Amino acid sequence: MQLENAFTMDTSSIKYGTGVTREIGFDLEEFGCRRVMVVTDPGLTKSQPVGVTMEALRERGIDAVLYDRVQIEPTDRSFREAIDFAREGRFDGYVAVGGGSSMDTCKAANLYATWPADFLTYVNPPIGMGRPVPGPLKPMIAVPTTAGTGSETTGVAIFDFLEMGAKTGIASRALRPLRGIIDPENTRTMPRMVAACTGLDQLTHALESLTALPYHRRPAADHPRLRPAYQGANPISDVWAARAVEMIARRLVRAVEHPEDDEARGEVLLAATYAGIGFGNAGVHLAHGMSYPVSGLVRGYVPEGYPPGRPLVPHGMAVSLNAPAVFRFTGPADPERHLACARLMGCDTTGARREEAGEILAQALVAIMRRVGMPNGLAAVGFGPEDVDRLVEGTLPQHRVTKLSPRPVGAEELKQLFLESMRLW
Ligand SMILES: [Fe+2]
Repeated sequence: MQLENAFTMDTSSIKYGTGVTREIGFDLEEFGCRRVMVVTDPGLTKSQPVGVTMEALRERGIDAVLYDRVQIEPTDRSFREAIDFAREGRFDGYVAVGGGSSMDTCKAANLYATWPADFLTYVNPPIGMGRPVPGPLKPMIAVPTTAGTGSETTGVAIFDFLEMGAKTGIASRALRPLRGIIDPENTRTMPRMVAACTGLDQLTHALESLTALPYHRRPAADHPRLRPAYQGANPISDVWAARAVEMIARRLVRAVEHPEDDEARGEVLLAATYAGIGFGNAGVHLAHGMSYPVSGLVRGYVPEGYPPGRPLVPHGMAVSLNAPAVFRFTGPADPERHLACARLMGCDTTGARREEAGEILAQALVAIMRRVGMPNGLAAVGFGPEDVDRLVEGTLPQHRVTKLSPRPVGAEELKQLFLESMRLW
């Protein structure tokens, strides 16, 4: 088997600064857009970030149409609804204001309105056909209002495929927004639990991209177009991910406990983008792969700070609940790297033995999770050992990420990892 010898570094243009959302009309004008679809979720319709965006667009004479029916943790059904709206609207540009759900929905709307096709055409195999996107999409600007998904820098859109109760997605460089507008003003009103979950999501993004299978150990692509966006750990993504780990570990607890601390919140928001650049090029692995069935199979758990009444394990929570067991498991694949991650999180690893590397990193993560109020493992969000087979079944099709695990995994290993994740402390 021939191994890969190339990697690329792709990212969106980023504009960072307090109040820069007000420049969005100018940005879209520059991209040549006259009629844009603004995508958000119903909880944000009357929010300041949406208000400022609409006003800034209209000020520049851009015809801005608001679509506010995004579902948090979107599904193929909610994607299709946005796609229909986009097709009918004949837009020449797109703006997403919100968290990952709004950004991902906006990417899908842009994709299928620009390159119409049956829904499963571009969806990741094995659920979809995974066909390459035929060409560029219309310009899209992402305005994140949570610090966590990093979706503003990636070409990935994730959704629940209802028929199978499984999370899957669409991944193509073509989906990447042209610009991300990172404005600390837009995250000021984030509920505490949302801040904690999204912050842990980005921390896990960075840790997973640092510990993913290195790009040169992946099989070579048959054609440059088939080289995946998730390429494995590589020297450029390492730089971004490492810095993200350091910034989040230092600032997350403060940003969660003191939402009025503009500096801490701004740094976490910026770190989310760094992590996005890192994992957008390297990929994530088992903690993400295992999180999809956790979110998909939720029964009764309703977290505070999220839409009331709807059972939900937020993405960042689902990811972090699995992560300690994952790093214990991946530690032996590259102990030095796991120790380096722990050091970036502020741990003193002097005298640490190589066999302890995974455990040390797991403990560093657990310490932060406890401080920001995460539940104590999968059991605390309603899962028990009787659910493990279904959780494993839901993880196995997530090839795109599980194959980036630095240690190969099968059903047996996953079973063990889920069992270990039931209780974290
Ligand atoms: Fe994530």
